[in-house]
Amino acid sequence: MKRIKFIIICFMLLSSVLLISCSKKEYDSTTNNSSTNSETKTFTIDELKTYDGQNGNPAYVAVDGIVYDVTDADGWNNGKHKNGIVAGVDLTSKLAESPHGAKVLNDLPVVGKLE
Ligand code: HEM
Repeated sequence: MKRIKFIIICFMLLSSVLLISCSKKEYDSTTNNSSTNSETKTFTIDELKTYDGQNGNPAYVAVDGIVYDVTDADGWNNGKHKNGIVAGVDLTSKLAESPHGAKVLNDLPVVGKLE
């Protein structure tokens, strides 16, 4: 009888440990700081500068706090655009003055947010 009680207690302990470790995994996955996730990556203005399209770097620009990938965009070559416009910077105010305006953003991949 003692042996059966011992086995039941061991079983209960083991189940509790398994339950706790499963709920911890669930908690970790929902509270994961997703700053490495490409859709929600947050760029500082200094970090954005490194995405200038030069030396094989991707070319990113920020507009209204959103960071877009212009690496393969029409009219952009190695991070350079018309009228001396370059990648790696916040183009919010310049885009408003551009001949085409913000409609060019519609087809661009979003890579994150600007801090
Ligand atoms: C998010 C930033 C921008 C994107 C994605 C973008 C995209 C484009 C695209 C797709 C074209 C047409 C290219 C072609 O047909 O060869 C273009 C043309 C042009 N862009 Fe931009 N552009 C951006 C920012 C700017 C800014 C800030 C300026 C200047 C202030 C500018 C000035 C021009 C000019 C002068 C042209 C040629 C005329 C025209 O097509 O309307 N762009 N741009």
